[in-house]
Amino acid sequence: MQIRPFLPSDIPQVKSFTDQVVGAGYYSIEELVENQKKSIAPTGEICSFVLVDEATERIMGLRLAYPPGNWDHGKGSKLRADLWPTALNNTAYFQSLFVSPELQGHGWGPQLSAKALEVFKKLRAEGVVAHSWKESPNNSSFKYLMNIGFKPIIEHPHYWIDVDYVCTLDGKPCKCTAVEMHLNLKENNL
Ligand SMILES: CC(C)(COP(=O)(O)OP(=O)(O)OC[C@H]1O[C@@H](n2cnc3c(N)ncnc32)[C@H](O)[C@@H]1OP(=O)(O)O)[C@@H](O)C(=O)NCCC(=O)NCCS
Repeated sequence: MQIRPFLPSDIPQVKSFTDQVVGAGYYSIEELVENQKKSIAPTGEICSFVLVDEATERIMGLRLAYPPGNWDHGKGSKLRADLWPTALNNTAYFQSLFVSPELQGHGWGPQLSAKALEVFKKLRAEGVVAHSWKESPNNSSFKYLMNIGFKPIIEHPHYWIDVDYVCTLDGKPCKCTAVEMHLNLKENNL
């Protein structure tokens, strides 16, 4: 397996991957084009990464991540920046992390995230925000974020209800809850 930056040429494969593991239509091609652009810092570093099976060239994982200044909300519109210890314009965003079901539980998610954190650190981001998926199988979404130092801030019930996609858990509309979480890069000395 190889971890490398998410490039525009990956978009068609990433679209098939997210349709399969997150739910059909969760990301459109247009949104992925936008998300890939949002991943690029003004200094040129790419903050989002893909996990690739080198033998087949298949995408097996995706970490979407944006540097401070390139985002102001997640997939849902709810955001409680007033509750974070860092200002929005100094805070990076972990948009989505998905690992192919057969590779989950083997640390690839944290490795993909570590790559993004490395870039955030270089860019001197002070914090990172994520919306964890409360109903994720085996609580893996919340657990991996807690494992790397994130703290829960607030829950947003029905966070993804306005997203026009078929949730792998409840179909359409998605009634899942997001836990807004924050990682303080200064405090954690990361
Ligand atoms: C969340 C996710 C990205 C984490 O990546 P990962 O590579 O599986 O992360 P880890 O290997 O560090 O596992 C994290 C924890 O979840 C558990 N876990 C992950 N997948 C699991 C599975 N399929 N079955 C049982 N436990 C699992 C791990 O055992 C670990 O628990 P621990 O901290 O008690 O040891 C990945 O599991 C995934 O894609 N899940 C489904 C989609 C999802 O929830 N994405 C996040 C949306 S915001």
